[in-house]
Amino acid sequence: MKAIRIHEKGAIDNIQTEDIPKPNINPNQVLVKVKACGINPVDWKSTIYGYFQMPYTLGTDISGVIEAVGSEVTEYKVGDQVIGSLEWATQGAFAEYVATEPKYLAPKPKNLNFEEAAAVPLVSLTAWQGVFDKLNLQKGQKILVQAAAGGVGLFAIQFAKWKGAEVIGIASQKNESFLKSFGVDGIIDYKTTDFSKISPDFDAVFDSMASSELTIPLLKKGGSYVSITAKPSEELTAKHHVTASNFLFHSNNKQLKTIVDLIEQDQIKVFLDKQFALTEAKAALKYQHEGHSKGKNVLVV
Ligand SMILES: NC(=O)c1ccc[n+]([C@@H]2O[C@H](COP(=O)([O-])OP(=O)(O)OC[C@H]3O[C@@H](n4cnc5c(N)ncnc54)[C@H](OP(=O)(O)O)[C@@H]3O)[C@@H](O)[C@H]2O)c1
Repeated sequence: MKAIRIHEKGAIDNIQTEDIPKPNINPNQVLVKVKACGINPVDWKSTIYGYFQMPYTLGTDISGVIEAVGSEVTEYKVGDQVIGSLEWATQGAFAEYVATEPKYLAPKPKNLNFEEAAAVPLVSLTAWQGVFDKLNLQKGQKILVQAAAGGVGLFAIQFAKWKGAEVIGIASQKNESFLKSFGVDGIIDYKTTDFSKISPDFDAVFDSMASSELTIPLLKKGGSYVSITAKPSEELTAKHHVTASNFLFHSNNKQLKTIVDLIEQDQIKVFLDKQFALTEAKAALKYQHEGHSKGKNVLVV
């Protein structure tokens, strides 16, 4: 089967398409015929900085169809359509077939095609865990979402609206009407705004751009800040009397099933920016690396 692999960190150009054996499954695994893969910043970051043990097959997010089921698996049968974010340490999504455990999977949303469905797992789980598990956002609160038009941001603003919060997104002006169509109440244009002139009236900040110096001062006293990149300084959080943390998402099939339900109820929408063939992974990662995509990019297998 074809797989997108890397043997040496350092550059996106180091990835290559290889022919490797189709995986065998253990009794507790399923074999998924992959239809599409979601692309995330970690895919290009790990090729450059080497987060995982080399060599490996890149990628975490898949959509596909179950082709074989291990003898101990009760949750799925051959032919089921699924999505999932694979085991973090081993990655392995950018391939024609994937062997994985049911705990990494959820049923594919029935109202999405495979390409749209592959865009859901990692970013939606990150947004869910940030907005609810970390910020504990409540109805009526006011939240500021950084990089609102990006992969994580677009889910974070929708989850916050679904909860009944007032949502302001940080984005460039060109994305204002796009973001309003996803429910935001307003935007702050990061390219032209002097953040020091904004009054501190947010209950929560969801930060995906390591912008704590800009965004923590916008919180009310007692507000909550969460980052999905750098940890904010203790000095800064103490100065503004807020709580702050950062975290790495984890695959969670219970949460993913809840998100799938919301998508099927049309409460949450998915937006695809670009689609690339699996063998165009290098170009796809370079596009994601530019850092200005809208919603998600996917590989079509
Ligand atoms: N901790 C975790 O578990 C976790 C999980 C997922 C992602 N992450 C990290 O979170 C970050 C965001 O991920 P993502 O998938 O949402 O990325 P993404 O889709 O690539 O983000 C693209 C968006 O970022 C916006 N943007 C770029 N520069 C900006 C700036 N200076 N200020 C505000 N917005 C800016 C772009 O808007 P314009 O086009 O207007 O510039 C675009 O809408 C990445 O660093 C990723 O590695 C961490």
